This record gives sequence, structure tokens and C-alpha cells, in this order.
Amino acid sequence: MKKIEDDLNNRRILAKLGGGQKRIDAQHSRGKLTARERIEILLDQGSFEEFDMFVTHRCSDFDMDLADSPPGDGVVTGWGTINGRVVFVFAKDFTVLGGSLSETHAQKIIKLQDMALKNRAPIVGIFDAGGARIQEGVAALAGYGEVFYRNVLSSGVIPQISVIMGPCAGGDVYSPAMTDFIFMVRDTSYMFVTGPDVVKTVTNETVSSEELGGASIHTVKSSVADGGYTNDVEALLQVRRFIDFLPSSNSDKPPEWPNFDDVNRVDLSLDSLVPDNPNQPYDMKELIYKTIDEGDFFEIQENHAKNIITGFGRIEGRTTGIVANQPMVLAGVLDIDASKKAARFVRFCDCFNIPIVTYVDVPGFLPGTAQEYGGLIKHGAKLLFAYAEATIPKVTIITRKGFGGSYVVMSSKHIGGDINYAWPSAQIAVMGASGAVEIIFKSDIGNADKISLRKKEYEDRFLSPFVAAERGYIDEIIPPRDTRKRLARALAMLSNKQYQYPLKKHDNIPL
Ligand code: HXC
Repeated sequence: MKKIEDDLNNRRILAKLGGGQKRIDAQHSRGKLTARERIEILLDQGSFEEFDMFVTHRCSDFDMDLADSPPGDGVVTGWGTINGRVVFVFAKDFTVLGGSLSETHAQKIIKLQDMALKNRAPIVGIFDAGGARIQEGVAALAGYGEVFYRNVLSSGVIPQISVIMGPCAGGDVYSPAMTDFIFMVRDTSYMFVTGPDVVKTVTNETVSSEELGGASIHTVKSSVADGGYTNDVEALLQVRRFIDFLPSSNSDKPPEWPNFDDVNRVDLSLDSLVPDNPNQPYDMKELIYKTIDEGDFFEIQENHAKNIITGFGRIEGRTTGIVANQPMVLAGVLDIDASKKAARFVRFCDCFNIPIVTYVDVPGFLPGTAQEYGGLIKHGAKLLFAYAEATIPKVTIITRKGFGGSYVVMSSKHIGGDINYAWPSAQIAVMGASGAVEIIFKSDIGNADKISLRKKEYEDRFLSPFVAAERGYIDEIIPPRDTRKRLARALAMLSNKQYQYPLKKHDNIPL
């Protein structure tokens, strides 16, 4: 017995060394933590239970059987808790053959994915790896195929989160791409289908890893990633914070945390948030921070399509998704990027029973050839479709402009908004006064007095919340200062909402 225990201890010590001390030191010298150090930070202290620590690869091609085969085979898998709630986690170990995926490495991940799905708990993947293990050929590709397949099976059932913490290529970017959220570490993590060397060979383009797939690209330009953090520790602590917003599965409601922020709090400063001049911007984030519990907002894709804001907050301790036009950027217009960003966010919330609050101040869709050639019609339709198909509680507040198609798209009553409020400053119309008058009173153009009279008429009649309220499209016009209180009451009333769409295999959202 004693001998077996000694053996076990020695084998554990060896397994924990992964690819060896030299490679661990190299990992640290690049500013990166090891797979096990990352898991320690992510999970509650002492809660990690590891699986398959002694698994090794079975490959003999390229003399792989003659070389060292470190136990664990390049991935650490298991489960633990985050603030007491079960989470499954796997972390690629870059010190073992660059974290590359072999047949057995894949089997470890697949086993974990199956357990997470069966036990209805989120799965977090920590990526620092070079894709399919080249020496294993098609066996590695098959392994990825099975991982991808389970990504799809789990999609919409349990939250899947990917944290990119090193150079990642091939399957180690495709699998994250099929998960719900991707977070990256700035300056040490990269995501590309093929790396800079292959790019040079194929296209003769010289590009650095950062320019090709760093956080500065994926959180700003491509929108592949949902957030970027300064270092490993910050990224992992933010993932802990993020998990607290999410339900464990689609059969759960989001967790309810103690709330010390008075739900009846009145905020007089909101009464002057919207400027008198309708063309003057204001910061919609101020409204978000002032209405959620303790101003605790977890923003998604903060640096991409800043004309729309998406993220999670809480009201009365319960998670709420927030979508808001941002008048500070492009006047809050809807363009391709903003539509895609918000549509994906709305669909996530709908999968996981997270109600959505929508703050509207939108002048329209962005005109122009760049947008039309890029398919604005189809991308804008994604957001319309996402809101219309979402059966979770939807509360909408129009703070200022709700013009044209963008008014309809932004969770209006007509596409299933449950509660639709407007501030007194709301202007709900087909378009602004200048555009409208120039179209319907074309013959008056050139006569400044007539035009300004027509504009005044239009503004008085249409640029208010009343026309919509008279038709019941707006349930109530509320004072800005009461917004938090009214939101909380609306969400409480809607908390048992039951709504089923006609039975279908799945819909056909415009992709
Ligand atoms: C086997 C690999 C490997 C791989 C890295 N290594 N990637 N071993 N298979 N895919 C090994 C290296 O040989 C090296 O071993 C160690 O890991 C560290 O790698 P380095 O290259 O020294 O590190 P670095 O310079 O930081 O570059 C990291 C990297 C690069 C950007 C990930 O290694 C790379 O480009 N790797 C190949 C990426 C790739 O093309 N993968 C196949 C994708 S196809 P030693 O012993 O020297 O330390 C795929 C198909 C999936 O994934 C299906 C998709 C639909």
C-alpha cells in the first residue's frame, strides 16, 4: 500500500510538471501562467478535482513512442466551483507539445464536455495551443471534429466560455468560435486559422501575430472576441465575475445574488440626461450605470461597434441583459457591426432565460454604399429577427429618438416587446423633421419661412411620445428619474412569463 501511495505521489508530481521545468520557466518568462496555475485562479480555492491526469498519447509515428510522453497529454481537465457553483474546466498545457491536440487529448476534452452537458453546468476552456497535433494526422482532426460536434450539442443548453491565453491556431480557434463568449489576454494571446508564416507563404503578406490575430484586432475589428484583459490573472478574475451573471443551464433561471441597492432609488440627475438640443449627444452608459444594481455592469464587446452597448447588469439581484444605442458614437445609428453585435447578444440572453432591457435612442440605419454592399439589409434583419424570436421578458425604454425601421427593430411593441416605456423627451416617428419636410413638402423647398413652419408643425405633431402612446405602442410615459423603479416592477411582473412560438425544427435567421 505504502509503495503504491509513494508511486502515486511521484506520478502526480511528474504529471504536474507537464512538459518540464524548463518549459514552465519559458511560459512564465513570456508573462503567462501554466495551465494548473490558471485553473487555481479561476476556481474557488481548493475546489478543483482533476480527471485523467495520467493519460498519455498512443502515437508511434515520427518516433513519438521513443520520445517523452508527459502524463496528461497537454490538457488539464476537471471540475470545481466558482462562488460555490459547479463549473467544468479544461486548460491547454502549452508546455506539452504546444498544447496541441492528439487523439487522447481530445478524448479528455470530450469526456468533460459530455459531463458538463449531462450535469447542466457551464464549461470554461482555457486555450494556449497550436491546434491539431501534426504527428497524429487525421486522428487529431477526428478528435477536433468530435469536440466541435459537442460544442454544437451544448450550444443553448449550457454556457460555454473560451479564454484565449496564448498563441492559438487551427482547431484551437474554431472550437472557441463555436462557444458563447471568447475573452483574450492582451499582448500574449493570438487567434488565427493560419499563423503569420503560412500567411507569408500563401499570400506573400508580412504580418505580425498581433496584427493578424491579437486582442487589439479581435476585440475591435473582427469582433471574434468579446473582451480583452491586461494579463492572465485579470482575465481569469473577470471570468469568475462573469460566471456569476449566468445561469448554469437553459433549464435554470439566472442566479440571484444579495442586493444592497434600493430598488426604489429615484435618480433626479436622469431628468436632465437628455439635452434640449436633439442633435447633442449624451452618454447612454450613464443611464445604464444609474439604473442597475450598484452600477455593476459587465460589458460585452466594449470596443467593437461602440454605437451600440451590450452587457449584463442586475436589477433586484437578478441578471438582466442590456442593449442600448449610444448617441455618443455615430449618433447611435444602427450599422452592420452594431446589428450583428446586438443580435448575437439578444440570442444568448434568450437561450438562457435572461430578460432584456433595451434603451433606445436611434436615428435610423446608416445609409451608404459601404453599408449596402456589405449587406446591411441582411445584417440589420438579424437584430430584428433576434428580438422577434426572443421569448424572454423584454422591457424597452425610448429615451429620445426612435426613428423609422430602427424604431421597429429595437424591441418595439410590434415585434413582441412586453413593456414599452418612453421618456417625455422621446420622439417616435418615421424620421426627423428636416428629412420629413423635404420629402413631403418638396414644393416648398426654397421658401425658408414655409419650410420652417412645416418643420414646426411636424415637430409638434410627431416628435413626441404621444402619437405612439395614443395607439398603445407605448404603455406609459415615465419620468426619467423613476426608471430603475419602473424597470424593477416591470421585470418582477414579467418574471413568470410563458410564451411558446409555433413548433418548428428551428428558424432560419438571416445569416
Ligand atoms: C505538434 C506542435 C504544434 C502542433 C506547436 N507545437 N504546435 N507540435 N503539433 N500543431 C510544438 C512545437 O513543435 C514546439 O515544440 C512547441 O509546441 C512550442 O511551439 P513553438 O512553435 O516553439 O511556439 P511559438 O513560437 O510560440 O508558436 C506557437 C504557434 C506555432 C503559433 C502555435 O507553434 C504554430 O504555428 N504551430 C502550428 C499551428 C498549426 O498550423 N496547427 C495545425 C492546425 S490544423 P518544442 O519541442 O520545440 O518545444 C488544425 C485542424 C483543426 O488544427 C480542424 C479545423 C477545422
